[in-house]
Amino acid sequence: MSDDSGAVLDYHQRTKHQLNGYAKGPASLDWDDQPSPFRRFDGCETVALPQPGAELDCRYADLDRPATIPAQPLTLANVGLLLELSFGLSAWKQFGPDRWALRCNPSSGNLHPTEAYLLCTDPGLLAAGVYHYVSHDHHLERRCRFDAADLPAGLYVGLSSIHWREAWKYGERAFRYCQHDIGHALAALSYAAAGLGWRVELLSEAGDAEIGAWLGLDRAADFVADERETPDLFCRIDTGAGAEGEFSGPALSQSLQSGEWFGSAKRLSGRHFYRWPIIDQVAEHTLKPPTPAERLTLPALELAPPSQNPAASRLIRQRRSAQHFNGKSAPLPLADFYRIFAALLPAAKPPFTAWNWPAQVHIVLFVHRVDGIEPGLYFLPRSAEAADRIRPACAADYVWQRVDAPFELYRLQAGNVRQAAKTLSCHQPIASDSAFSLGMLARFADNVSAEAWRYRRLFWECGLLGQILYLEAEAAGVRGTGIGCFFDDAVHGVLGLQDQTWQSLYHFTVGEPLEDNRLQTLPAYAHLAQSASPAPENG
Ligand SMILES: Cc1cc2nc3c(=O)[nH]c(=O)nc-3n(C[C@H](O)[C@H](O)[C@H](O)COP(=O)(O)O)c2cc1C
Repeated sequence: MSDDSGAVLDYHQRTKHQLNGYAKGPASLDWDDQPSPFRRFDGCETVALPQPGAELDCRYADLDRPATIPAQPLTLANVGLLLELSFGLSAWKQFGPDRWALRCNPSSGNLHPTEAYLLCTDPGLLAAGVYHYVSHDHHLERRCRFDAADLPAGLYVGLSSIHWREAWKYGERAFRYCQHDIGHALAALSYAAAGLGWRVELLSEAGDAEIGAWLGLDRAADFVADERETPDLFCRIDTGAGAEGEFSGPALSQSLQSGEWFGSAKRLSGRHFYRWPIIDQVAEHTLKPPTPAERLTLPALELAPPSQNPAASRLIRQRRSAQHFNGKSAPLPLADFYRIFAALLPAAKPPFTAWNWPAQVHIVLFVHRVDGIEPGLYFLPRSAEAADRIRPACAADYVWQRVDAPFELYRLQAGNVRQAAKTLSCHQPIASDSAFSLGMLARFADNVSAEAWRYRRLFWECGLLGQILYLEAEAAGVRGTGIGCFFDDAVHGVLGLQDQTWQSLYHFTVGEPLEDNRLQTLPAYAHLAQSASPAPENG
């Protein structure tokens, strides 16, 4: 095992929440130092995108069979819609004097560490360049102009993280949440692209250093040192136009060498009172080198129709986290339960069409209120061999009774597991008042020991599953919430897992939401219409 892998396993151990103490975070929140959730660059030309709010022609369930959705033309309006439905605002919430934006992609604590960039080598769409997407203003900032005459026409999206945004609130554990959010963002992009009849191809062979150079993140002088952005993923958007040639990283790097860069990032927060050096260290230990290209062939899977099937864009924009659940709700219908979990299995549909690796993450399920499923603890393997592998590692008293379901599902133990779910998820009632909650169990030590950067990949996979659960919950007429706060080793203890072979990396809960009527909901982009209208005349 490399030194990097050892350091990453130590980071993971150190950032566990324990029943008798939480991972290291700020003693109190310095609200005046809260980082802005919107990055902007000074000194860049901006490129307006057409007015947000357009609807996709397809319905949510059409995304189950992306090949049947006609490819929309590659226009700025459609690129704007892609960005809006992936990373754009979905609403504003107001409580008294406080107002905050929600986005199509979820983020722990609504802090949004993920930034998105568009790289265009198709002059028919936009001058060749690197563009930063500003979700608040729904426009692009041109960071770089370069000559792409030697490159095939193409459209690319890069994702990066500003760890400080998340660390401000969550301290040392924040690096994990940033990775979850990359997974959510990749999934959001994959769903939005599918709605346009496009496909996201994750160019996972690229190393972080290359991605950083392509997006201009290695230009240290353009960023406040404590607010730097780290590269995560780079994707090609296959728009079906057929003009796109083979992507070549070296050719892109070569063309960018004569690029002209503009602007510098505005400061996000003033003081940086607390510092979390362990995050920079684990980021360094998990840098991804270039790797061989990997692509998966996925099975087709027929999913039963969801209970609610609005326009895909409407469902994407209505995604929210529930803050509270109705602990006395009617049980979730069995058909919805089956559909939600079938949607988590790798298949030729978004977001798995944007994922290049076999499933490493499986589900431990706390069933509370589901029609036809006895309350209890369950295990859902997401690959053929997973149940056989994990079973010997678990406590011997679990029954592993196969459930009659459209997929492999095992009951470990029947009974009321609400209190256990709540306690394990940092005593949060959202884990017990729902229809079900779950933990995402990753094949852990093997992956991290093989290649330290896979630590990030495991969290990305969990985020990918999180976004599926968020959207599927809406399609079932209920609501989901990601749960980053759980007592890691207490979860493993319940299952009888003794070491780091398997680790739970993300929790989730789904049920009937209770709305907080004190909160007002406002439209996502009314502020753009206001700023576009002519200024009132004086007098
Ligand atoms: C990775 C992750 C972890 C989260 N952890 C918790 C949690 O432990 N408890 C909770 O109440 N909400 C949790 N949330 C919900 C977020 O606070 C919520 O997504 C955020 O406020 C944004 O709101 P939205 O999802 O409605 O856009 C989590 C969300 C994510 C994505």
